[in-house]
Amino acid sequence: MTTETKRVLITGSSNGIGKAAAKALSCFGYQVFKTGTRELNEKNYFPADLTSLDNVKKLYNYVKENFGEIDILINNAGQYLYSSIENTDINNIEKLFNLNFLSHYYLTSLIVPDMKKNRFGRIVNISSISAVVGEANASLYAASKSAFFGFEKSLALELAAYNITINSISPGWVETDLTDNALDENEKKETLDIIPQKRFVEPIEIANLVKYLVSNEAKGLTGQNINLCAGLSCGC
Ligand SMILES: NC(=O)c1ccc[n+]([C@@H]2O[C@H](COP(=O)([O-])OP(=O)(O)OC[C@H]3O[C@@H](n4cnc5c(N)ncnc54)[C@H](OP(=O)(O)O)[C@@H]3O)[C@@H](O)[C@H]2O)c1
Repeated sequence: MTTETKRVLITGSSNGIGKAAAKALSCFGYQVFKTGTRELNEKNYFPADLTSLDNVKKLYNYVKENFGEIDILINNAGQYLYSSIENTDINNIEKLFNLNFLSHYYLTSLIVPDMKKNRFGRIVNISSISAVVGEANASLYAASKSAFFGFEKSLALELAAYNITINSISPGWVETDLTDNALDENEKKETLDIIPQKRFVEPIEIANLVKYLVSNEAKGLTGQNINLCAGLSCGC
């Protein structure tokens, strides 16, 4: 199958990292289907709030009927939550886990049968450096993101014989609205001070790594996590 005929679904692609990945893959000739919560007047786009698993099924049904079988799945949609454990609203526990992990578990489970049938698949999960090194006051977020690690190691084994790979990228702070909403100007300066490269990662850097992970060149890479974090995971 050539790049041109490969079909990609990227969650959280109306903005930020997912949008950059969608652009990079489209420019490279992939057929890309996008989703987010906002309304966008674009072909190959379906709005769905993925905190509801019913909406995950609706998204899958729409994509299958209107776009076709998915060869490449980028599990990217997510939200950040900064809160001490005692102040975490009980309602946020289920909501954040649903969005950051369970929606992707469920979506993957719906798409894997076609990948197995076609004996090809690439799955990339966007985790977070907070899941790799921990982040004070972000334990719920970190836990929701670290679930990807056990998920992908197990699925890498389960799907290896079908030419399906599954890996994650763990970004450090990236220049997106998520970062703008999480940090005020002072916090940005303090954060930059502790990042070894003294800069935020650009969305295109994540997009380019996604492009590599879904390529034929990366066929031997599976069950792995790659930290793309301007040095944050190395200590300070
Ligand atoms: N930015 C960082 O520093 C950073 C670091 C590590 C990991 N990450 C991870 O990278 C991923 C992308 O983040 P980003 O920085 O690109 O954030 P972003 O610019 O805020 O974009 C988030 C994307 O997720 C979608 N989304 C949010 N809530 C959703 C919901 N309930 N249902 C469905 N889609 C939803 C958004 O859609 P709408 O805008 O249409 O609502 C948007 O397309 C997230 O999983 C995040 O945890 C980001």
